[in-house]
Amino acid sequence: MAMNLSRLTAVLCLTFMMLIVPPTAATSKSYDDLSDVYILCNTQNYTAGDAFDNQLKASLTSLQQLAQRRSSYRLLQIRGPGITLMTSFQCRGDLSPSKCSECVTAAVQTASSSCPSSIGSRVQKNGCFLRYEQYSYNVEDSSVVVELCNTQKNTDPYFKNQVQGIVSRVISSAPRHKNLFASASVSLGSQKGSSAGFKLYALAQCQGYLSPGQCADCLTAHSSSWQDCDAAVGSQIHSVSCYYRFETYPFFY
Ligand SMILES: *[C@@H]1O[C@H](CO)[C@@H](O)[C@H](O)[C@H]1NC(C)=O
Repeated sequence: MAMNLSRLTAVLCLTFMMLIVPPTAATSKSYDDLSDVYILCNTQNYTAGDAFDNQLKASLTSLQQLAQRRSSYRLLQIRGPGITLMTSFQCRGDLSPSKCSECVTAAVQTASSSCPSSIGSRVQKNGCFLRYEQYSYNVEDSSVVVELCNTQKNTDPYFKNQVQGIVSRVISSAPRHKNLFASASVSLGSQKGSSAGFKLYALAQCQGYLSPGQCADCLTAHSSSWQDCDAAVGSQIHSVSCYYRFETYPFFY
């Protein structure tokens, strides 16, 4: 059950950004809602107490309140004299409103502690995503942010086939469902060399500002990228506006 998401195979989007990937993910207790998958900080800073700082604080407070009122996705845009600020959060589609709210509050704290005074940041936790920028980002963007690979391998062609199948399933299903989210599990039965009850679990989700068509484009753009992980028993492919993940252990409700 140990998660070893330590191998970082691709890091793009690094212009003006610092990427922080936690050295090892936490245990899979309560499906890791609050553990960090990646954190991106713009290296440019605003000045404490300036108009942007005040607007950002107000917007992040509003996002947390919206999550407390059972929203699972929100995007706020402020266009004032001299200020453009877009902020948003999205929870993993299976989280309860209270877990979602807890995750958004934790993500706001992570953004301010890991990216203090940054003019932009992205925090991807296992249970939710938070972002703010000085520009509008609510467009489809399938550039890869990070690919995480479990270090354990399974080279059995049957396993590879099953991964292909479940990844295709969640990718085609997510755009058609609430929160642009889909999850699935499949029993691998008595696969050679595996214990009974061996299963595969997968999920896919797009940012709430995408249309179903854009969501499908975003997810299919990297539908084979899990193969970059070279027979890994689990991987996560995160692009700017969508992601998917599969594992051999449950990681969602
Ligand atoms: C922004 O602030 C951090 C510390 O909060 C500092 O390490 C960094 O050098 C600053 N960046 C710029 C571009 O001034």
